[in-house]
Amino acid sequence: MEKRQELYSGKAKSVYTTDDADKLILHFRNDTSAFDGKKIEQLERKGMVNNRFNAFIMEKLAEAGIATHFERLLSDQDSLVKRLDMIPVECVVRNIAAGSICKRLGVEEGIDLEPPTFEFFLKDDERGDPMINEYHIRSFGWAETEHVEKMKALTFEVNGILKQLFLQGNMLLVDYKLEFGLFKGEVLLGDEFTPDGCRLWDCDTREKLDKDRFRQDLGDVVESYELVGRRLGLAFDPVAQD
Ligand code: TMP
Ligand code: ASP
Repeated sequence: MEKRQELYSGKAKSVYTTDDADKLILHFRNDTSAFDGKKIEQLERKGMVNNRFNAFIMEKLAEAGIATHFERLLSDQDSLVKRLDMIPVECVVRNIAAGSICKRLGVEEGIDLEPPTFEFFLKDDERGDPMINEYHIRSFGWAETEHVEKMKALTFEVNGILKQLFLQGNMLLVDYKLEFGLFKGEVLLGDEFTPDGCRLWDCDTREKLDKDRFRQDLGDVVESYELVGRRLGLAFDPVAQD
């Protein structure tokens, strides 16, 4: 499958049309951004590492029964996905307090959240991805009520699957963000799951292994992402091209 036209270019990925109207190619670039695009750097090998990482996680989720847009890896930095009509809302689950919730509520980083908490954010970099609630989603027509319910249920289901998976690699899934879209009327998991969009800490040392390394200038960003993959059993072998 070949790239045709660039449809959209985000902060870390570019999206291309293909000859199949139902399929798109995601190209994972080396760009790394934080603070809603205010901090941007190029990190060598990051596109490859995130593309491979995302494929690995999407396949694990599919095996566990989560419907996703992911089809297959095409090359080191490209993946084939179903073309979704994206819902402009981000779904965040937090198992441990970190990041914006600490600033917003004045809670200490590292507190266990039991039960895990859930937040919606509007996908709008210009406004700093503001937190919204279900009433906003309904009143502004960003998604149908049944689709909101489905996104919430799927996001929590993903938590059960991935918390266990990361635990097997001696890592804590602190929080993560998911995005969903519609494919022929069905809500599917879209976008990506990589250390760019979640927080992962070593179980013993609580060392940060995710994009907080970039946000907080801790160094070894891509090396940490690779380490997370390897701890899950991902070998990063070259992709067989067809
Ligand atoms: P936050 O602490 O900045 O609200 O983010 C919570 C988690 O969701 C964290 O793992 C980062 C991820 N996230 C994104 O990747 N992109 C976003 O736009 C938002 C709001 C969160
Ligand atoms: N809001 C998230 C962050 O601070 C995502 C982003 O802006 O890229 O990293």
